[in-house]
Amino acid sequence: MVGSVLMQRMQDEGDFANINPVFFSTSNAGGAAPAFAAGAGKLEDAFDVETLAKLPIIVTAQGGDYTKQVHGELRSRGWDGLWIDAASTLRMNDDSIIVLDPINRDVIDKGLANGTKDFIGGNCTVSCMLMGLGGLFKNGLVEWGTSMTYQAASGGGARHMRELLSQFGTLNAQISTELDDPASAILEIDRKVLAHQRTDIDATQFGVPLAGSLIPWIDADLGNGQSKEEWKAGVETNKILGTSGDEHIIMDGLCIRIGAMRSHSQALTLKLREDLSVAEIEKLLDADNEWATVVPNTKEDSMASLTPVAASGTLDIPVGRIRKLEMGPQYISAFTVGDQLLWGAAEPLRRMLNIATGKL
Ligand code: HSE
Repeated sequence: MVGSVLMQRMQDEGDFANINPVFFSTSNAGGAAPAFAAGAGKLEDAFDVETLAKLPIIVTAQGGDYTKQVHGELRSRGWDGLWIDAASTLRMNDDSIIVLDPINRDVIDKGLANGTKDFIGGNCTVSCMLMGLGGLFKNGLVEWGTSMTYQAASGGGARHMRELLSQFGTLNAQISTELDDPASAILEIDRKVLAHQRTDIDATQFGVPLAGSLIPWIDADLGNGQSKEEWKAGVETNKILGTSGDEHIIMDGLCIRIGAMRSHSQALTLKLREDLSVAEIEKLLDADNEWATVVPNTKEDSMASLTPVAASGTLDIPVGRIRKLEMGPQYISAFTVGDQLLWGAAEPLRRMLNIATGKL
């Protein structure tokens, strides 16, 4: 799914005109290359390390297992091309850089100059948070933060999105007759829905029902009460920003799966290092990059512009609900939403390719 979004974005932006692409497939070697890539030849075998090793840059959205299998073999053969992927496998390695160029272009440029070869897209919630709140994070204004996430089904993959929609359908099917009858009893409808959720709803992908519910755990259990998704917030934020020692930012919170399709949302509590006015904060956020857009903290604006439905399919990262919290003048709330397949996955990769080829 990330690969499809990536290819679409590359077509939309004319990226293929800047490169001589060779396409690889894990399942259809010998098949036709995409029609839009004139003269690209047939699909190569994505496990054919010899052919891969002839290329100066490899971009893949195939996933962590593929990276594990192929990247190491290429490197051990002495391949010194650039590897650009979106998997977490290499992300925290000392010799890799997490790419999110509107936030850390300086780190990327320094890495390219110093011979870094592995450029890896970040975790989707971390990338979307930093895109929305870059104006505070990049200016060293965040002392610590908690991020409580509302993550979409797409984070699990295409099959998870389908399962969510099927669940909505079978839930509706249980009670559609009663729904059509305005005189039917809502508690009876609720009882039927719950019975279906608890007994025979198909939850093969997520393990438990998501439609009409939520799942308060994402990714592996680290054994210390924290999920791997929650651990990523702290380590990746600091790695992207290059902050350590006195500048280290404490980030932690809970990651929750909800029944949205492809945009991740998160509610943040931030302790700032300074007592800035809300107007100053909004100005910094708006000015940081062209995609972060401050949504006025009103009911009307929040409901219209600060939702997964509003953000999905766009590169905009709306950030709103900014206000001072009762805890004190340096404590603020914020809420941000981002399409996890775009800024959360595909967009940093295509931009990194353009940086590497001197087009950005
Ligand atoms: N781990 C994320 C999620 C997906 O499950 O939503 C991509 O980073």
